[in-house]
Amino acid sequence: MIDSLRENSDDNDSCGGSCTLHDALNTPKALERREFIRVAGMVFASIGALGLGSRRASAMAPIPISDVAAMPPRIGDRAEERRYAIPSVDGVSIDKDNSVIIARAAGKVYAFSLSCPHQNTALRWEAGDNQFFCPKHKSRYRADGAFIEGRATRDMDRLPIRRDAAALVVDIDALIQQDEHQREWSAAFIAI
Ligand code: FES
Repeated sequence: MIDSLRENSDDNDSCGGSCTLHDALNTPKALERREFIRVAGMVFASIGALGLGSRRASAMAPIPISDVAAMPPRIGDRAEERRYAIPSVDGVSIDKDNSVIIARAAGKVYAFSLSCPHQNTALRWEAGDNQFFCPKHKSRYRADGAFIEGRATRDMDRLPIRRDAAALVVDIDALIQQDEHQREWSAAFIAI
């Protein structure tokens, strides 16, 4: 115990008992600590440069975006229904003519209104973050339409969707608002 105290004392006395702050920071033990802190800092900086702690790093591989057009209707389709090919891979497709978004992600296909649920601005898809983004008030949503952040107060509006053989059939007039119809909203997808 006394030896241990003496060891520490020896370290601190390496400058003859009259250490300045500069001297104290440059004793052998202080240098070891500083080296440790320097190396640790480099490791954390590398992690930051790789983006491992960022929102983007937690996302999957970027989901691409494309335009899509509704297919010709079939006999029996209602006037407010639109047909689309079932996406074969994850992706976001936008039918501007009908203001519909078709999104496939994590084994599910959804149909959304293109309008932001806050004040109807057209939403964008940001493949780098795998998020929908509203340029007006910066709201963000996940690929399944769930609200993340911003001025909006609910998830993206979904549209009823069903499968008919190799096609999706979407009702473009029956907006499902998550805050008013949670159960219908949650069930509005088809599994792939
Ligand atoms: S219109 Fe989209 S957040 Fe306000």
